[in-house]
Amino acid sequence: MKLKNYIGGQWVEPENGAYEPVIDPATGEILAEVPKSSVKDADRAIAAARSAYDSWRKVPAPKRGEILFKVGQILKERKHELAQQMTREMGKVYTEAAGDVQEGIDMAFYMAGEGRRSFGYTTPSELPDKFAMATRDSIGVAGIITPWNFPMAIPTWKIFPALVCGNTVVFKPASEVPLSAQALVNILIEAGVPAGVVNLVHGDGPVVGEALLADPRVDLISFTGSNQTGRHVAKVAGEALKRVSLELGGKNAIIVMDDANLDLAVEGILWSAFGTTGQRCTACSRLIVHEKIYDELRDRLADRMSKLRLGHGLEKSTDVGPLITQKALEKVHGYVEIGQQEGAKLVLGGGRAENGDLSRGYFYQPTLFTEVTPEMRIASEEIFGPVLSMIRVKSLEEAIAINNRVTYGLSSSIFSQDVNRVFQAIRDLATGIVYINAGTTGAEIHLPFGGTRGTGNGHREAGTAALDFFSEWKAVYVDF
Ligand code: ALA
Repeated sequence: MKLKNYIGGQWVEPENGAYEPVIDPATGEILAEVPKSSVKDADRAIAAARSAYDSWRKVPAPKRGEILFKVGQILKERKHELAQQMTREMGKVYTEAAGDVQEGIDMAFYMAGEGRRSFGYTTPSELPDKFAMATRDSIGVAGIITPWNFPMAIPTWKIFPALVCGNTVVFKPASEVPLSAQALVNILIEAGVPAGVVNLVHGDGPVVGEALLADPRVDLISFTGSNQTGRHVAKVAGEALKRVSLELGGKNAIIVMDDANLDLAVEGILWSAFGTTGQRCTACSRLIVHEKIYDELRDRLADRMSKLRLGHGLEKSTDVGPLITQKALEKVHGYVEIGQQEGAKLVLGGGRAENGDLSRGYFYQPTLFTEVTPEMRIASEEIFGPVLSMIRVKSLEEAIAINNRVTYGLSSSIFSQDVNRVFQAIRDLATGIVYINAGTTGAEIHLPFGGTRGTGNGHREAGTAALDFFSEWKAVYVDF
């Protein structure tokens, strides 16, 4: 099956006729072929979005919201098939894929409501016979560039607020997950999004993504991906004075104090470290543990990790799916070798999982390092795989300092039953998201999502914070 781009209300082939395969990472099976579009396709999509903008921005926001409400209803009806397709496309286990679609459903209903709110404000003027108010204005064409690890959630977190605010969209999803992108666009069409308002262009970042960054007809860029690409996006789009939202990596830590409920902690750690095979920006990859319970936690964790079942995400028995590509597998293994060279102790895992059917996919054993020190590369660089590093500490202060020393600042967590320690952690953990007695993953759509420092550039997704990015304040003074 050859997939198409969606430009100006038409499904069209890429102008250059170039495609690449879409592969099930658990089996190596080819699922479809995705266009490797050229700059010309991007150019046509931008032109379509530009010409649709003037009428879309004038559609009353509640009406735009109603379309999103319908999108939410259709997503809800198709949740099961969308999740199944997602599992085949990128490997996450079915229940997590269903959760990914659920984030899209939540976002659709949330943003549908914002169509009726999107509050501005009025304020007393300094002068007589004058009225002062601030309203939210649309901006223009939004370039939406998304990764493969949340094929439905991340595009919806960007496209829905962009639309409700009155912007039009050129959407470039990761080439690993074009089926989810196509399904989402089909649902938007079915729900009544007019031609040209959302355009989909498949292709490589350096070609299609780059065209969006550089083109003056694109007003804002919302990007989720690697730190390295994020820096490039910031440079090119920043040079063109575009509004840019960057959602980049993480090196997220769970702190476990000596008073923690360890049953709860083990569950939170397993879920955050090995859910989506560790391929989440919010994944826990550092475990900062009080020395009094370090050995006990290590043993309990190793025991549970050794029982995790790897397999195809559509099998009910599977706990952990594959990595996304051979390249990802090599990167993860490279870090495991670095960890050993650095002197960390490999307690569990540390290699490709190749028994039976697993040899067909990109499976990696859940891996545990102990005796990790904070300066090691495995404790400071993003690995994006099922590798967990345990660091030993003597106090909460030391734990917080270690959490904060990495360049990323997305998500952090503390397991403790001491309310004073918990509030100290809330105050001092330098991350955009803080969890108490839960792992580092599972952010919902109502609160601002994003991180500090190397994780981004200060913008937040989700909640009303998303409206701040996708709309422009307009101050209005009325003399009478
Ligand atoms: N909602 C996803 C998480 O927090 C992004 O892991």
